[in-house]
Amino acid sequence: MNILILGSGGREHTLAWKIKQSPKLGQLFVAPGNAGTAEIAKNIPIGVNNFEAIKKSVLEESIDMVIVGPEDPLVNGIHDFFLRDGKLAHIPVIGPQKAAAELEGSKEFAKKFMMRHNIPTAAYESFKADTLQEGFAFLESLDPPYVLKADGLAAGKGVVILNDLQEAKNELKSMLVDAKFGAASTTVVIEEFLSGIELSIFVLTDGKGYKVLPTAKDYKRIGEGDTGLNTGGMGAISPVSFADSTFMDKVHKRIVKPTVDGLKKDNLPYQGFIFIGLIKVGDEPKVIEYNVRMGDPETEVVIPRVKNDMVSLFTAVADQTLDAVELEIDERTAATVMLVSGGYPGAYEKEKIITGFEEIDDSIVFHAGTTKKKEKIVTNGGRVMAITSYGIDFKEALETSYKNINKIRFKGMNYRKDIGFDF
Ligand code: AMP
Ligand code: GLY
Repeated sequence: MNILILGSGGREHTLAWKIKQSPKLGQLFVAPGNAGTAEIAKNIPIGVNNFEAIKKSVLEESIDMVIVGPEDPLVNGIHDFFLRDGKLAHIPVIGPQKAAAELEGSKEFAKKFMMRHNIPTAAYESFKADTLQEGFAFLESLDPPYVLKADGLAAGKGVVILNDLQEAKNELKSMLVDAKFGAASTTVVIEEFLSGIELSIFVLTDGKGYKVLPTAKDYKRIGEGDTGLNTGGMGAISPVSFADSTFMDKVHKRIVKPTVDGLKKDNLPYQGFIFIGLIKVGDEPKVIEYNVRMGDPETEVVIPRVKNDMVSLFTAVADQTLDAVELEIDERTAATVMLVSGGYPGAYEKEKIITGFEEIDDSIVFHAGTTKKKEKIVTNGGRVMAITSYGIDFKEALETSYKNINKIRFKGMNYRKDIGFDF
């Protein structure tokens, strides 16, 4: 079976690494991929939103299945594009259709979905420019901190949390009236602030049944002790120790099952990953957000713990036979540490030569922003590489990752030395 993965990050390298282990795989392609995927697959230099170019490659390379890494092409309707095309319609796409991808594409859509299906989440109201005054009044009725969310995709920057009422009002005006996030902030969701500890859960669904994959926690801030600017994610651990069986029972009953059932009831076809951002408030799980893809760097710890053959799993998703599959999970803990370019998440330079990672044999090196230039592997993004290790606990796993990171060099290299500090 020939498979195409769309995307170019650590998530896609991890999926490629896992799929590569399958005896069912014919040829593996990644578009556009990175220097890591180039080692194990054929990279195709096309963008994830260039549907016509993707179609051409799929036909030329006789691709039998497409796995979509990032949210953008899903929200833009790549699955629907395949279904509508006579030559592509029979090729399974792993990732939801456009209507269901709105769970990530629109915060307001996601909130209404949760309300409709009684899924616990923060109380909210949404506003547009013509209801700005009502928005101010709603902010006045809340206690700080104030949580403002641009409705649409804003490259992970659309959530603003402020302590001061006047600042919150100014921010609301800037989002709605001055289009701070462009069209993404035409609608703004204002939410009750939830205080607790966050974790992510990942569900693979075929639209009928589902499997809950291992839990993970990522570390989003650039600075140690969870300080400084938000990033795409600086590291992750799986499993999350505070997600014990009592808590996970609640997550299954109150959140996962109602979500999959809700998709069915609402006629939202979904074959792919659901990433549910949760917060544990006291002992109760509440949903912070849905994403319609795997997380990055959560994939780098979740997928290495899945023992099943990945191609069989995806085939079961395509055939809607996931209920018959038994998920096998590695008991060990997995931890990953992300190496980033100096300056990230602000401005940073690219094309720094990366050395030392080839010598590593007791961690898995997942490439993110890397490319090949004149036979050298160089940096090509903010997040450069994720170093994943297994251990009997997260400390042991991290010890191995940090030991191996000492062998890696590139100019400006930065990483957090305190992944797991809160456990
Ligand atoms: P999101 O883009 O929806 O994941 O939000 C980004 C981050 O903002 C989350 O990971 C949380 O840390 C925080 N956040 C979002 N919504 C809330 C909320 N209602 N209460 C507290 N923190 C929140
Ligand atoms: N690590 C968070 C995300 O992938 O959205």
